[in-house]
Amino acid sequence: MSSITNNNGGLPVSRPFYITTPIYYVNDRPHIGHSYTTVAADLMARFQRLCGREAFMLTGSDEHGTKIAEAAEAAGMKPQAFCDEVVEHYKRAWRDLDIDNNDFIRTTDKRHIEAFRKLLVVLKNSKTDDGQDVIYPGIYEGLYCTGCENFLTDKDLVDGVCPHHNIPPRQVKEKNYFFRLSSYLGKLRKMIETDQLIILPDERRREVIGLFDQGLNDFSLSRERVKWGIPLPFDDSQNAYVWIDALSNYITAIGYGADETNFKKWWYEAETVHFMAKDILKFHCIYWPAMLLAASLPLPNRIFLHGFFTIDGQRMAKSLHNQIDPGELVEKFGTDATRFLLLTQYPFGADGDIQRSRFVKQYNSALANDLGNLVSRVAKMITASFEGRLPGPADGLEGYQELIEQAEQLPETVGDHLRDFRITAAIDEIFSLVRAANRFFDLNAPWKLVKDGQSNKAGGVLYACAEVIRIVATLLHPLMPGKTREILTVFGLDDAVLNMNDARTFFCQKPETKITIKESIFPRLKNGEKKPPAPKSENLSENLIDIAEFGRVEMVTARILAAENVKGADKLLRLQIDLGHEKRQIVAGVAEHYRPEDIIDMNIIVVKNLKPAKIRGVESNGMLLAAHAGKKLVLVVPDGDIPPGSPVG
Ligand code: MSP
Repeated sequence: MSSITNNNGGLPVSRPFYITTPIYYVNDRPHIGHSYTTVAADLMARFQRLCGREAFMLTGSDEHGTKIAEAAEAAGMKPQAFCDEVVEHYKRAWRDLDIDNNDFIRTTDKRHIEAFRKLLVVLKNSKTDDGQDVIYPGIYEGLYCTGCENFLTDKDLVDGVCPHHNIPPRQVKEKNYFFRLSSYLGKLRKMIETDQLIILPDERRREVIGLFDQGLNDFSLSRERVKWGIPLPFDDSQNAYVWIDALSNYITAIGYGADETNFKKWWYEAETVHFMAKDILKFHCIYWPAMLLAASLPLPNRIFLHGFFTIDGQRMAKSLHNQIDPGELVEKFGTDATRFLLLTQYPFGADGDIQRSRFVKQYNSALANDLGNLVSRVAKMITASFEGRLPGPADGLEGYQELIEQAEQLPETVGDHLRDFRITAAIDEIFSLVRAANRFFDLNAPWKLVKDGQSNKAGGVLYACAEVIRIVATLLHPLMPGKTREILTVFGLDDAVLNMNDARTFFCQKPETKITIKESIFPRLKNGEKKPPAPKSENLSENLIDIAEFGRVEMVTARILAAENVKGADKLLRLQIDLGHEKRQIVAGVAEHYRPEDIIDMNIIVVKNLKPAKIRGVESNGMLLAAHAGKKLVLVVPDGDIPPGSPVG
């Protein structure tokens, strides 16, 4: 299908746009590494929608294989139950970050398993161009790293351990089925070299070509010993190799083998883009396209592999205790500012370093001082000097034409950057217009113009700034969907203006529109200070929290195993509680209402994900629920004998 370009920054609009993130391992909770790719992909999909293009964004979870099975075992859980629990942390993180994914695929979904097994049958029945079986049985003997879920060679090791996971690989020898990669290497290399499969950035493309030069072997696509996986349809003594299972999510989610129309639309007709970091290059740029070739399916159009970031100069790892939970950032900075901070630490695509200590400074400088201040000063002055009604444009202002030109050029520039995934460059351009508008405001000093009786000119300054704000809010919408809506609301605008045609046109807003600003869009933060809580309103509906906020509170049932008074604290009991898969100590202020011996063995409900706190010197890891019945405090208890650890929601 041919694509047309129109006035939307040169982006093709006739084809739908399909973008994917990696499906993340659910052996542990999400950290900001996962968030980084997911926010970037969400931004890209939202930008395409802004351009009037239909966009589908997919993310999900990779749930099979040894790594997950071992994590489940360590937690004392069955793999499926473990995955069910951990996947909720991912879903919650994506809600917290306002990710507008169209689907979330789990490799344990029935729809995935069925479609994947169909793909395996297709591969099993396929022949290479020279008539050989694509899949053939063989014996694999070698080293295996469960961290990578991949076979390694001696060359890959550093001091005898896997350099990525710092663990020694296992020696394995087993019967496997192999995928005849060697038969597809020539064709694939050519497709990459001629940009039929575009690999970005160029450095990664060169890396992939380098892999062909080093030589690549057929790979084994099944495991005899790995019990947590999808059985091969043609030999159920073997489970599919987790990577083969995982890669196929990109087509099973959109209807491969199940919904031909949907699959055709999103895999054949759409522009397809895979986003990820460079760590999983070989799987995506070699194995996956080769599998698609073998199954006679089209290849994705573009694969973008961004860099890896360190935290304060160190690799991010659980063992180093430096992983940052996206929820922690959202709590401190809010959803949109977190999205902004994640994507602006270093150029998107390159390797970088994230320093926690920079976050507050950067929030204050770009969001509070530049953007927030522009919105506040313009809206406040319209309120104070123009009775809250947007004044009309005026001529004869300093730097007026330059500002208009910069604003009118911006959608084109941002479109160009985003088409090539230069996300940080696009954001920089937008903020450069914000700063230009602040300078324009200072240069023309509308407050002085009002004093000097030149209200018409002062109004013109405000109108021009209001137009810049509208254009900036539109272009920043894919990055900060919530805050940009708030900004538009200040100017009496709504989603109707969120499109590239309006963004390209200066002089869109209607004079006389009511402007309403109550509080700063981005309140300044002091270093170490939390985002100020929203003021309690008299209006009940304004006190409501949304479901995503509530969803962050994890509550479970628990059984009280032991209870004792806390010395020197009349109100406190120290409780040992059973949460099903773990035991914890909590401190509860119920000693005036319950004697320790009365509450042992009671089933209660506790909030599980509170940060640990010391109460009168005693560590408390959670909080129980109790109701205030007049002066009495009564424990909230589940109805029935529910096993400890059952989620409450
Ligand atoms: N399950 C596989 C992917 C299968 S896709 C068919 C996997 N999962 S993962 O949980 O390890 O996620 C890896 C991805 O997380 C990276 O490719 C990247 O998108 C993201 N990141 C994890 N840590 C990161 C950084 N420190 N820096 C940048 N991205 C990071 O691999």
